[in-house]
Amino acid sequence: MQLEAVITGKAYRNAAGEQHDVLDKVELSLRSGEVGVLFGPSGCGKSTLLRILSGLDRDYQGHVSRPSQARIGMVFQEPRLLPWRSVEDNIRLAAPGVDEAKLSALFDVLELSAHRSHFPSELSLGLARRVALARALAVEPDFLILDEPLASLDDALAARLRQQIATLIEGRTMLTLLVTHNLDDAVRLGDRLFLLSARPARLLRTHSIDRPRSARSEADIRAIRTDLARLDLPNR
Ligand SMILES: Nc1ncnc2c1ncn2[C@@H]1O[C@H](COP(=O)(O)OP(=O)(O)O)[C@@H](O)[C@H]1O
Ligand SMILES: [Mg+2]
Repeated sequence: MQLEAVITGKAYRNAAGEQHDVLDKVELSLRSGEVGVLFGPSGCGKSTLLRILSGLDRDYQGHVSRPSQARIGMVFQEPRLLPWRSVEDNIRLAAPGVDEAKLSALFDVLELSAHRSHFPSELSLGLARRVALARALAVEPDFLILDEPLASLDDALAARLRQQIATLIEGRTMLTLLVTHNLDDAVRLGDRLFLLSARPARLLRTHSIDRPRSARSEADIRAIRTDLARLDLPNR
C-alpha cells in the first residue's frame, strides 16, 4: 500500500465569501511500514492536510492516491468517544469483528485493562487518548492516522504513550501518518519527516531517518535534532 499526494492548494471560504488559504504546494509519498510525520507550526494546516490525505475532505486542488479498500484508523485531536458507552463498547462499536485476544492485547499494551467498563467522563485526557488509539487499532487499519496524540500530556505521560505507540506501530505493517509540532516526538517516531511552513502550509523539505526506530540511541536522536535545527524551521 502506498500513499501519493500532490496538493496544490486548499482554501476555506467564510460566510462573507472571503478566501482563507490554508495549504499551498505539498507533495509527499509514503509506503506501508513507514511512519510519516507532518511537522509544522500550530495553525499551519496540518489537520486540514490529514483530512485530505485520509479522504474525509475532497474539496482541494490536487490529487491524492491511496488504495480504495484501505482500512483507516483515525485518532483525532480530541478523543471523540461516545459518552454513554463504556471504554470497551466504544471500541466494539467501531470494530464489531474484534476478537477477545486482540482486544486484550491492545488493552495490555495501552495499560487500559482496568478501565474496560469505565465511561469517558471517568477518564483523564491521557486515558481517553489511549482509548481512541485502541479504537483506531482494533479495526486492523492499513492506514493509521494520529493527529497530535501526545499534545497537552505531561512529559512523563507523553513519553510513556510515545513508547506504547512505537510498540503498536512495530506490531503491524501499516502506513502511519502522525501530526505533531514537537520535534522530539517527530524524531523518535518518524521514518520520513515532512517539514511544513507556516500557513498556508507548503512542504519545505522531506527528511528521511534511515536508522530503525528501535535502534535509535539518545545520541542519534540528538544528532538528528541538531541537523534539523540548522534548517531554521518556522517557530512551533
Ligand atoms: N472548517 C474550517 N473552516 C474554516 N477555517 C478552518 C476550518 N478548519 C480549519 N480552519 C483554519 O485553517 C487553518 C489551519 O487549521 P488546521 O488545519 O487545524 O491547523 P493545524 O492542525 O496545523 O493547527 C487555521 O487558520 C484554521 O482556523
Ligand atoms: Mg491540528
